Amino acid sequence: MTEHGSRSGRRMPFRNAASVARGGNWRAAIRALLVLIVLVSVLGGIIAYSIVSRGLSAHDEPSRVEALLAGAMRRWATPESLRNRTNPVEPTEAVLGQALSHYADHCATCHANNGSGHTAIGRALYPRVPDMRANATQSLTDGELFSIIEHGIRLTGMPGWGKGTPEGEREKKGTRALRATAPETD
Ligand code: HEC
Repeated sequence: MTEHGSRSGRRMPFRNAASVARGGNWRAAIRALLVLIVLVSVLGGIIAYSIVSRGLSAHDEPSRVEALLAGAMRRWATPESLRNRTNPVEPTEAVLGQALSHYADHCATCHANNGSGHTAIGRALYPRVPDMRANATQSLTDGELFSIIEHGIRLTGMPGWGKGTPEGEREKKGTRALRATAPETD
């Protein structure tokens, strides 16, 4: 078919020129693709080699790219329906008392009683536990905090504490406890 096309090309110069140009485009595109594949493979090889030769340690700090990606993933992981919910559990003295003692029992091992994250486990996890008194945590909505406590955070040390019950009372109280660890920003 092509041979026929090129032989008849003399009779139809315009059509032939167009088909040659098309063929040229394809060849250039395939060459560019091959160069790209080789470059990506070489780069991937260098990165893989540097990781394997150095090893991975939980003592490292996550890179900015990793932190950015993790932040975006976590925002997507919070169900839209939860994000803007406010905590329906009233912050009475009794509720705060229960919440803080639950926090002391279950959360302080990693997060510390004051929420600073300065614990042996919290400082050794990858990623580290954040200082929950800081704005990054306190500016999360009640719904986001509830979702994090209920479902946990994948690929980190943060467990999902919910039992999948619609009430999730414990987790809502946990959200209260988090606000209470940083009363100055509440
Ligand atoms: C085994 C350790 C561990 C325990 C126990 C733990 N957490 Fe966490 N938590 C983490 C880690 C690690 C992160 C950071 C995850 C990340 O970087 O995305 C985290 C993150 C969080 C965050 C998100 C804060 C932010 O700004 O990113 C909240 C809220 C939280 N934990 C609440 C709790 C509560 C409430 C409890 C107890 C019911 C608890 N955690 C128990 C390890 C733990």
